[in-house]
Amino acid sequence: MAEIEIRNLGIDYRKPNSDEVFAAVDDISLSIAAGEFVSIVGSSGCGKSTLLLSVAGLVKIARGTITIGGRPVSGPGPDRAVVFQDASLLPWRTVLGNVRFGLEMQRWTGGDLTERAMSMIKLVGLARFADYHPHQLSGGMRQRVNIARALAVDPQVLLMDEPFGALDAQTREIMGGELLRIWEGDKKTALFVTHDIDEAIFLSDKVVVMGRNPGHIKEVIAIDLPRPRTQEILDTPQFTEYRRRLRAHLAADMAGMHFMEEAA
Ligand SMILES: Nc1ncnc2c1ncn2[C@@H]1O[C@H](COP(=O)(O)OP(=O)(O)OP(=O)(O)O)[C@@H](O)[C@H]1O
Ligand SMILES: [Mg+2]
Repeated sequence: MAEIEIRNLGIDYRKPNSDEVFAAVDDISLSIAAGEFVSIVGSSGCGKSTLLLSVAGLVKIARGTITIGGRPVSGPGPDRAVVFQDASLLPWRTVLGNVRFGLEMQRWTGGDLTERAMSMIKLVGLARFADYHPHQLSGGMRQRVNIARALAVDPQVLLMDEPFGALDAQTREIMGGELLRIWEGDKKTALFVTHDIDEAIFLSDKVVVMGRNPGHIKEVIAIDLPRPRTQEILDTPQFTEYRRRLRAHLAADMAGMHFMEEAA
């Protein structure tokens, strides 16, 4: 049975300074199995974040349903954790304090909070930095803290919206590898939004390609590459073929955008 089942989902937003509503995404159906890693790609504004937020329970569902483990999503819950691109840490708390904060908010009862937080900090490779404050860390390290905070509460589902978007290409590659290592350790169901095609292929079991106006699924590509994966895989013919397919999809979408602007 699928862990996350999205059926004919539609999300509406109100246009700024107006009562008019429009569909940001419409008629989205997607099944994600327990423990699967799924990435979402698509041009800017096609509704990737909206889809992720709807699974997080942070936007109102206008049409259709989302169920997680058979239970309908009607708001946020401890079974899901979200990591945002520009996720902010509490500046006055240390790394340890920030990871503890996630546990405090969820009223964690699974044992000693500090011990739990420290084990997550070790997992993301920051044990030596537990006493540091956010401003003393690099962007990549701060994003590791965010991931540790999300993982600490032991969610079934990990939702990530361009978590490495603000990082340079090399740090990003390292973080992707780290994320896979953690995910392979205790396979959470993961939904991951990215603009980076290589990142999507490298990480995922499935890549969902979205189109725009309103946001919809164009194709779901199963990534049939062996795990565990290392950077060498980026140069294999299979990987190159997935890259070609995804690029073609996204290029077609961009061409459509220019056409629309000209027609407007
Ligand atoms: N809170 C909101 N109120 C009104 N419109 C919104 C709101 N959030 C997003 N939108 C609109 O909904 C559409 C989808 O936005 P969304 O943020 O989901 O796209 P995205 O694919 O994540 O884009 P990006 O790649 O730039 O992050 C866009 O047209 C956007 O302007
Ligand atoms: Mg977005």
